[in-house]
Amino acid sequence: MSGVVGTRADLPFTFAPLLIEWQRRAGRSGMPWQGSRDPYRVWLSEVMLQQTQVSTVLGYYTRFLDRFPDVRALAAAHTDEVMALWSGLGYYSRARNLHRCAQAVVNSHGGEFPATAAGLETLPGIGASTAAAIASFCFGERVSIVDGNVRRVLTRLLAFEGDLAQAAPQRELWNLAQALLPIDPAADDITAYTQGLMDLGATVCTRSRPACGQCPMNGICRGYLSGEPQRFPVKTRTLKRRHESWWLLLVKLVDGPDRFWLQRRPASGIWAGLYCPPVFESEQAAHAGLPPAWLDSLIALDAVSHSLTHRELRLHPLLLELRSQPNLGELPEGQWVDAQMLGQHGLPAPVKLLLQALLVSDLFSRT
Ligand code: ADE
Repeated sequence: MSGVVGTRADLPFTFAPLLIEWQRRAGRSGMPWQGSRDPYRVWLSEVMLQQTQVSTVLGYYTRFLDRFPDVRALAAAHTDEVMALWSGLGYYSRARNLHRCAQAVVNSHGGEFPATAAGLETLPGIGASTAAAIASFCFGERVSIVDGNVRRVLTRLLAFEGDLAQAAPQRELWNLAQALLPIDPAADDITAYTQGLMDLGATVCTRSRPACGQCPMNGICRGYLSGEPQRFPVKTRTLKRRHESWWLLLVKLVDGPDRFWLQRRPASGIWAGLYCPPVFESEQAAHAGLPPAWLDSLIALDAVSHSLTHRELRLHPLLLELRSQPNLGELPEGQWVDAQMLGQHGLPAPVKLLLQALLVSDLFSRT
């Protein structure tokens, strides 16, 4: 790659001023985490916004801050409550790390977030790009974020041929990102620059069909000028998701207020620490432990698909309605959760949807 952009003098030096001007004129504004230099608020927004769209994050962000207005409140919370407030946002390791990170800030840093990207990066769940975002937004540090959107923007800008599946080109791109930063910026400029990188990647320099005609960089973008901006970023290794089928035993007790039989998932692996109906690898396995008399009442509901980072799950819900409390040992390990209390439990998004759909369809069948 050094053959393409050999020296720093070869970098487009108008990139930073064009980006700052564009962000102030046309970038996103009015999001509730903007304008704050409070690292707690900025950190929370950055973690929520990893792999999640702004429109999804908005409601969660406000609810979370209402309940946990500062890092001490979050550190003192019970994990279950944190997971419940995160339920539906996905990528639950973020919530577990969020809680751990709050505890580390309180226990090891006297309740104050470190004020540099290098210091922030030592905390649980804060990677290089998130640390850079917090340090630039809150402390005006001259440090570049390099998340997926920014990689796309910069590899197109520079027609960067390096393979980002490899560590050395990744490091090289990070060095270039640092070299592109505004020189000696005021804190407000670095904030606009960082937000501009995010906004350009999210709204103009999109993965498919980038809006090059509206891009402030179309006069200097080497990818655009090459005629093939979408060729970048170059990545040889593509993610292959493994396909898996799971059978979910949805046991509902209807002898009083509706209750579901849920298990707490193990502390590691898929949906770690969340509440979920018992999971089986086959329909036979789901049947195997149940009293034979119940099998006739099992109803196979429509399967639903759910994508995780490394897995493509096909979920097959099996519904069993019980009119009275079963005897001990008739069900796999678990506990009854009142339908009214589901909101207080961390549930995987597709499970939450399934249980809600069951409750709604019941409402209709009763009227
Ligand atoms: N994605 C990650 N951080 C963001 C931010 N601060 N604004 C909008 N989208 C983002």
